[in-house]
Amino acid sequence: HGVFTYDPGYGSTGSTASAITYIDGEEGILMHRGYRIEELAKHSDFMEVCYLLLEGELPNAKQKAEFQHQITYHTMLHEQIASFYRGFRRDAHPMAVMVGVVGALSAFYHDSTDIHDPYQRMIASYRLIAKVPTIAAMAYKYSVGQPFVYPRNDLNYAENFLRMTFAVPAEEYKIDPVVAKAMDRIFILHADHEQNASTSTVRIAGSSGANPFACIAAGIACLWGPAHGGANEAVLSMLHEIGSVDRIPEYIKRAKSKDDNFRLMGFGHRVYKNYDPRATVMRESCHEVLDALGKRNEPLLALAMELERIALEDDYFVSHKLFPNVDFYSGIILQAIGFPTSMFTVLFAVARTVGWVAQWKEMIEDPTQRIGRPRQLYTGYGERPFLPLNKRK
Ligand code: CMC
Repeated sequence: HGVFTYDPGYGSTGSTASAITYIDGEEGILMHRGYRIEELAKHSDFMEVCYLLLEGELPNAKQKAEFQHQITYHTMLHEQIASFYRGFRRDAHPMAVMVGVVGALSAFYHDSTDIHDPYQRMIASYRLIAKVPTIAAMAYKYSVGQPFVYPRNDLNYAENFLRMTFAVPAEEYKIDPVVAKAMDRIFILHADHEQNASTSTVRIAGSSGANPFACIAAGIACLWGPAHGGANEAVLSMLHEIGSVDRIPEYIKRAKSKDDNFRLMGFGHRVYKNYDPRATVMRESCHEVLDALGKRNEPLLALAMELERIALEDDYFVSHKLFPNVDFYSGIILQAIGFPTSMFTVLFAVARTVGWVAQWKEMIEDPTQRIGRPRQLYTGYGERPFLPLNKRK
């Protein structure tokens, strides 16, 4: 029945050609459209990176202003969307809320199903990038029982998100520029990562011609898992569980044991067999933010650094080429800024939306594109006779 390669987990299957993101896992290099992630994190900003991922080039001043205008123009949600939140329990995980509400956007934008119209594709892209932070901040507000805060379009993307999340009525909310910069950088570092599980999910969902808002909801669902975007939340839980430096060896031992399912969260990667370049920037940012917030002696940071040091000297981690990944330090920054752990993966989803959208758009614009349809190795029964109910054991 046809010849195909059996490749569980797609370790060696190239599912698409793409010009967006390049990773050299052996060398620990990540580039978007030819620009190193370290340079983008240092010299650029999230809006520019969004434009770069979507359009292929860094914007000039005019293009940047126009793009920023478009994104801020679309930050508001239809007022009826607020009622979706009320259907969730207050203690719902915000990722569950994200899957639901972003999916629900598809019902507000049926015109987006006309994916072969370039204008509709563009508007759907802008709407997603602009509205996902509003949706995420509302998920947080709902969980703490505070009123929703509407977007403010004189602020930049990160500032607006921080304000929608943390501002409370009748109190002035001051945005700390170091925090806003760190937030912007976290968004840049998570913006795209070629054909990871959630991006492949978005591509497969979109390959059938489905509504892009529904496809992004599928990506959010996939991102939620602890082996993917859920790792940033899992890292913090792990650090809390370890609790003190003297207990690190016990956990390292558990991570190495074949009889224990425990893994060092925030360590290891399918593609990187070297230090994840995003983790290097994240570690620097972590120090900057904690210094600025007067939390330099944060015990979790000391614990994380010691854990990293011990793991990187351990034969098991060295021989398995397990290095810290992007999620290892991000949780510590996010906690210092004031986000509860349940919001960590939500922030990843906010940032990754542009990557998902850019990859979806690239796929739809590819003339060779066809529906994603993997094959299988069938391991079940051969043909056998049907037994009537009274003959079955
Ligand atoms: N701790 C201990 N051992 C590990 C770890 C870890 N974190 N990661 C991999 N290994 C071992 C694994 O047990 C296996 O050992 P052996 O060959 O002796 O059986 C070997 O390394 C290969 O592991 P694998 O599961 O086949 O590797 P994979 O490419 O399928 O998985 C991964 C990649 C990221 C899911 C995995 O490294 C992991 O579970 N890490 C912890 C979760 C995590 O931090 N995820 C975030 C990934 S980066 C952000 C993102 O893109 O979402």
